[in-house]
Amino acid sequence: MRPRVFVTRKIPEKALLMLEERCDVRMWQKEDVPVPKDVLKEELAEAEGLFCLLTEKIDADLLDHAPHLRVISNMAVGYNNIDVSAATRKGIMVTNTPDVLTETTADLTFALLMATARRLLEASDYLRRGEWKTWSPMLLTGQDVHGATLGIIGMGRIGEAVAKRAKGFDMRVLYHNRNRKPEVEEKLGVTYADLPTLLKESDFVCILTPYTSETHHLIGKGELAIMKKTAVLINTSRGGVVDENALYEALTTGTILAAGLDVFEQEPVPLNHPLLSLPNVVALPHIGSASVQTRTRMAELAAQNLLQALAGELPENLVNTEIYKL
Ligand code: DGY
Repeated sequence: MRPRVFVTRKIPEKALLMLEERCDVRMWQKEDVPVPKDVLKEELAEAEGLFCLLTEKIDADLLDHAPHLRVISNMAVGYNNIDVSAATRKGIMVTNTPDVLTETTADLTFALLMATARRLLEASDYLRRGEWKTWSPMLLTGQDVHGATLGIIGMGRIGEAVAKRAKGFDMRVLYHNRNRKPEVEEKLGVTYADLPTLLKESDFVCILTPYTSETHHLIGKGELAIMKKTAVLINTSRGGVVDENALYEALTTGTILAAGLDVFEQEPVPLNHPLLSLPNVVALPHIGSASVQTRTRMAELAAQNLLQALAGELPENLVNTEIYKL
């Protein structure tokens, strides 16, 4: 019998066809509304495979209602939406989609850094409001990116790809990571720094670390206080790495200059969120990996991971590798 698979959102056609060729696929049909938890629960009563997105919280309670589930394939590199320990205890494989989104996410990180540094959104709005009367020496002046110091928190694949871009802008690159990476230092000419040093010396701080209990509010009041007054904070990881109340205070009191945020503690970020009222915040709706090519590749990789797991093979991107030792 073909295994039952539930897909939590409409996905690119090719990925869907890959699944349909070997599985009995059911899919939540609404493109802009996440699947409600009760529907997900109902589907998981039968499903052997789950293809989900970062918008679905897959917790222990849900897994208690998934007696046949063998694999959770997340179409994202981050998997903080899944209780991986609970899945492991139940012998359920968890997979993700690394690598295919690295360069695209680095592109967006750098675009956000530049847009924030050079105040692109403010400038564009200014023009559209009809306020552009003349060229003026200090009008809408921002911060130079070239030659500045960039601090990367989290030197994983995306961190490396951002560092490569920074080198093209003659930036000095500092990084902080759980483990020091001498081979990356040599390859990219980046320098390891402890977190306080990185925060003190950087003109731009990019957060690229995964969100875990250890990185929750890694950047709070104390960390923001030691940054330069002219510093720009960029977050394309997960909102929870930054304490948003502390960030709001830092941005309104001149502790730091500006922030570029692709991610928020609550997503979608409520429109009345104080950060959205600030002109020195560039806010995006979690689009780090959002190119047609990359989202298509992510969907195909997630489908492939799921199919490998259901076929009893070792999926290419298994997160809970310890499951094989159970
Ligand atoms: C991820 O993959 O974790 C991103 O946040 C979305 O691409």
